[in-house]
Amino acid sequence: MNNEINKIGILTSGGDSPGMNAAIRAVVRASVYHKLGCIGIYRGYEGLIEGDFIELTARSVKNLISRGGTFLKSARSAEFRTAEGRKKAYKHLKKYNIDALVVIGGDGTFRGAAAFSKDFDYPIIGIPGTIDNDINGTDFTIGYDTALNTVVEAIDKIRDTAHSHNRIFLVEVMGRDAGDLALNAGVGAGAEEILIPEENLGRDKIINSLQRSKKAGKSSSIIVVSEGDQIGKNIFKLANYIEDSLEDYEVRVTVLGHIQRGGSPSCFDRVLASRLGVFAIDALIKGEQNVMIGIKNHDVLSVPFSEAIKKDTEIDTELIRVSDIVSL
Ligand code: F6P
Repeated sequence: MNNEINKIGILTSGGDSPGMNAAIRAVVRASVYHKLGCIGIYRGYEGLIEGDFIELTARSVKNLISRGGTFLKSARSAEFRTAEGRKKAYKHLKKYNIDALVVIGGDGTFRGAAAFSKDFDYPIIGIPGTIDNDINGTDFTIGYDTALNTVVEAIDKIRDTAHSHNRIFLVEVMGRDAGDLALNAGVGAGAEEILIPEENLGRDKIINSLQRSKKAGKSSSIIVVSEGDQIGKNIFKLANYIEDSLEDYEVRVTVLGHIQRGGSPSCFDRVLASRLGVFAIDALIKGEQNVMIGIKNHDVLSVPFSEAIKKDTEIDTELIRVSDIVSL
């Protein structure tokens, strides 16, 4: 055990995701197991800058595994992006004798962590928590599986009404710059077309595809649109364009929005959160720092922040091919 680490701080930052609570629980209990003190930091880096802390024990995290959101709350902190803000945060960590941090969030969270540890040579471990599944070096982020199931359940319901009225539905799915959620949910829900930023299909391809669907005898269609897709950026304009281009079809738009971020985490996300949380404390004890704990081919491993925040996550082209075939 690394004797220099006696007390850790934990926070959640950026957009919340289902399973963040389960990850906090795992980190707190692993800390207690290894006889480390544990301090919860409210509202991500904002709470770190303000010293908004609470002491956590094994009992502080009871009944949390099934709850969505994050009981520590989350925020996107503009001040932490400044050297001045990070200095204030460091002062609070020193004042409360916090020797290391575990941060749960997405790429913005890891960018902040990397900058902070560079400023002060301070140990930080990251855990990926975002519904977008857009972090390099891990197959899955906490919350993604739950969000996928939420989207599929919603589209199943939309399909019932789409079919009853012979309508085309455009369903907007979250994913600021990444189409993974849209692509997988689209295949799972049997969407006719899936628009993702990585592919950029173009409006006319959509029209051709809808015409083909009609010829093939389909009376309704579901088009999943990732919010990050160029033509999906204005989903209502796309709806008008389709209505103007195709006769006899009515188009409706559903923006799923933040329901995708809420809800009780799936079993997959709870197990993932538990594994990553325990491994995060193991890593700190082994003296690792400035890494994210991820999962690759079922193995939990650590990935340097510099790798994790690289924007070179690739879309699954094989799944695009599968989608094209099964949506005929
Ligand atoms: O990063 C997670 C995410 O849900 C994105 O999919 C989405 O674009 C963004 O957060 C929304 O952020 P906010 O809740 O701040 O509007």
